[in-house]
Amino acid sequence: MAAPHHDTTPGTREDWWRDAAIYQVYPRSFADGDGDGTGDLAGVRAKLPYLAELGVDAVWFTPWYLSPLADGGYDVADYRTIDPAFGTLDEAEKLIAEARALGIRTIVDIVPNHVSDQHPWFRAALAAGPGSPERKLFHFRPGRGDHGELPPNDWPSQFAGPTWTRVEDGEWYLHLFTPQQPDLNWAHPVVREEHESVLRFWFERGVAGVRIDSAALPAKDPALPDFVEGRDPHPYVDRDELHEIYRSWRRVADAYGAVFVGEVWLPDSERFARYLRPDELHTAFNFTFLTCPWDPDRLRGAIDDTLAEHAPVGAPATWVLCNHDVTRTVTRYGRAETGFDFATKAFGTPTDLELGTRRARAAALLTLALPGSVYLYQGEELGLPEADIPRDRIQDPMHFRSGGTDPGRDGCRVPLPWNADAPYAGFGSGTEPWLPQPDGWSAYAADRQAADPASMLTLYRTALRLRRSEPGLGDGPLEWLPAPDGVLALRRAPGLVCVVNLARTPAALPDHETVLLTSGPLDTDGRLPTDTAAWLRG
Ligand code: GLC
Repeated sequence: MAAPHHDTTPGTREDWWRDAAIYQVYPRSFADGDGDGTGDLAGVRAKLPYLAELGVDAVWFTPWYLSPLADGGYDVADYRTIDPAFGTLDEAEKLIAEARALGIRTIVDIVPNHVSDQHPWFRAALAAGPGSPERKLFHFRPGRGDHGELPPNDWPSQFAGPTWTRVEDGEWYLHLFTPQQPDLNWAHPVVREEHESVLRFWFERGVAGVRIDSAALPAKDPALPDFVEGRDPHPYVDRDELHEIYRSWRRVADAYGAVFVGEVWLPDSERFARYLRPDELHTAFNFTFLTCPWDPDRLRGAIDDTLAEHAPVGAPATWVLCNHDVTRTVTRYGRAETGFDFATKAFGTPTDLELGTRRARAAALLTLALPGSVYLYQGEELGLPEADIPRDRIQDPMHFRSGGTDPGRDGCRVPLPWNADAPYAGFGSGTEPWLPQPDGWSAYAADRQAADPASMLTLYRTALRLRRSEPGLGDGPLEWLPAPDGVLALRRAPGLVCVVNLARTPAALPDHETVLLTSGPLDTDGRLPTDTAAWLRG
């Protein structure tokens, strides 16, 4: 596969997505332009120069549509309207065009599995009653038990708690997430038509790509049978019907030269790769890498597995360290257990932030050296840690549905610090943000970091600039070089090497002409300290 190059005609390559650096904006927490405590599109527009200077190729917006925000916007009431808390459709169109003029493409988020319970379809379904055509767009069923008092099946929820809710007339409806997110019936042609129309609506407005939420969940076994461990096919995960749906979406996207990235959480790599066949999705998030502990063998294994699973379908890999659903990278890497913490996430889990930051810096250089596209979650470039949210301020439904045992995902969604000396670290103009910022947040402010050559922001800016200008980074081959135990050394092109030291002792650098960049200082003997990475030429 030829390694395409960024800097020939910035922002115009058709295959830009094969090695793009994509920045994830969680609009509620990015920047507050109107000063009401909630981030908005005016805030994003004001920060476009910041994103351009950071050096990203695209921005992915988590849902910005009309929504009661029962699940942070993943409960969409109308795809063709921007939520008034964020702005207007006119502003979104301006934002898309302004970003594009700076060489930044826009990716929007589509949530096919469910809509909000305030979506007109669901309200009409409730009003129309049992047996109505309106109810056929969802999964309404009578209950089990003598009086229909038991849910129609035993499916476990994606969040804790029940997956069925009973309505006044006695029927139940399915929701894999919260009751405010009723699941759509993807066997219904109107559901398919509507989503293709929504795709066109956004492509017409200049959107270059779509992130597909919970992409392996929308199709259901029409009989809605009880869940039986190990039975194939699964009644609602990764069903074959999905591929036809995405092939049809691909035809829509191809007409606009637009691309997809699927949120596909699947343990089976062969099944995962099926979504990336040439006539389906262009890319999918790589959660194998995100969930990998800070361990040399496991990381190398995750990288090899990822490349091997993508190779047969010719799709580029994606590399993700963080997003709005997981504990922030520096906190994760700073925990005694270096493992992924969907399992260990708990209130007050002790963290060594200095250690976590050192590792996150090294991980940034590793990630940006890998072949494929890379996702960067807002605040990752500032090295933000996970915040402890006081219990009475938590908003994430995941917390409430766990009975209060899981802190939920708010800790990675705290409003960003922009200006160290402004109230609320410059997030807005003086109203307290919707989620509280922890003490010391302004130490992470972008303005302070921009002036500091040793900051995380400077590291990301420098690395992203080099990633654009260095032949061999981005898409293309990767070769492992011999290295001491605990050290990862990979070559991307003749003369371009990334070394990461995960051993307990400093490591000698392989022969090289120039050190292009390191994640931390070399020791006095010129060796690479523990938890440090370097990019070398020669
Ligand atoms: C995805 C989103 C997550 C949301 C869920 C339900 O996993 O990333 O934030 O809660 O889908 O839409």
